[in-house]
Amino acid sequence: MSLWQNCNTTVRENIALAPFTTWGIGGKARWFAEPQTVSELAALIAEAELNDVRLYVLGGGSNLLVSDGVLDGLVICLSSYEFKKVEVDDYHCQIIAGSGAPFTKVINLAKEKGFSGLEYFAGIPGTIGGAALMNAGTKGHAIGLRIKEVGVVDMAGRFGIYNRNNLFFTYRQSNLNDLVITSVKLDVRKDLPELIESRCASLIQKKSETQPLDQKSAGCVFKNPVKNSAGLLIDKAGCKGWREGDAVVSEVHANFIVNDGKATYADTMKLIERVQKQVYLKFNIMLELEIKIWI
Ligand code: EPU
Repeated sequence: MSLWQNCNTTVRENIALAPFTTWGIGGKARWFAEPQTVSELAALIAEAELNDVRLYVLGGGSNLLVSDGVLDGLVICLSSYEFKKVEVDDYHCQIIAGSGAPFTKVINLAKEKGFSGLEYFAGIPGTIGGAALMNAGTKGHAIGLRIKEVGVVDMAGRFGIYNRNNLFFTYRQSNLNDLVITSVKLDVRKDLPELIESRCASLIQKKSETQPLDQKSAGCVFKNPVKNSAGLLIDKAGCKGWREGDAVVSEVHANFIVNDGKATYADTMKLIERVQKQVYLKFNIMLELEIKIWI
């Protein structure tokens, strides 16, 4: 008898996770489900909790390092129509997106409809739910400031709404960690589509010149220390080009580790630890991880 028989969602077993990550690294999920609705999601979460099964929520897999073996838990992927749809509310100047919608899709729709406020985030990979969870952003701009409301399901499978009164964001962090985000409502304002387009294009251009966007990576590996830059420190510490197996510290931007072939979790962790140690030895600063690790 299946553990998930009361959930109304197909739960597959032993599913390879590397293809779901931008790094292309990692082993398998013991269980893997793509719920079609919020109530299916809630049922899966409640069943996992009841049976003491560890839960992993997959966004765009763009900030994620998955371990090499089999993850003994349920991976929930919010890839169905319900979780990917994006709507524009012209009257209230807001965008309502399913948490699994790619951030780029949200930004493109805003641009098309002449809504400004999201240009700073052009080129950020992953989903809007993942971006909200980790308060993704660029220098001086984080998505948290634009978020009006977030729909969530808690670990007991109960739906709820977080709004400006109970949402908290700091650098690359939010208070949404022990919840599954289902939707995100964003504040935008009217502007000319051609101006929005040119702001997005110049940011994407800058990124393509300074980041290894043509290689498999998870974006920046470490958070920037206060008033400092992890990329600059790693570069000055002489780590560019360092390699463990097929995991390599990028020559283009030192805070990126690229998968140069068949990098494993073990290779990548070894390299991360070597870099941390070297920066600590040189500058007495312990770099903190920005990426999430699933073990
Ligand atoms: N630098 C070097 N060598 C390098 C990389 C950077 O000397 O190898 C120097 C740059 O020349 C610059 C400084 O370090 O003087 C900062 O570099 P950059 O402008 O690239 O910004 P960053 O702080 O490294 C942050 C975000 C990026 C975001 C960019 C662009 C973090 C950890 N990183 O990078 O976000 O794309 O600003 O706004 O906050 C991510 O979070 O995954 C990410 C890529």
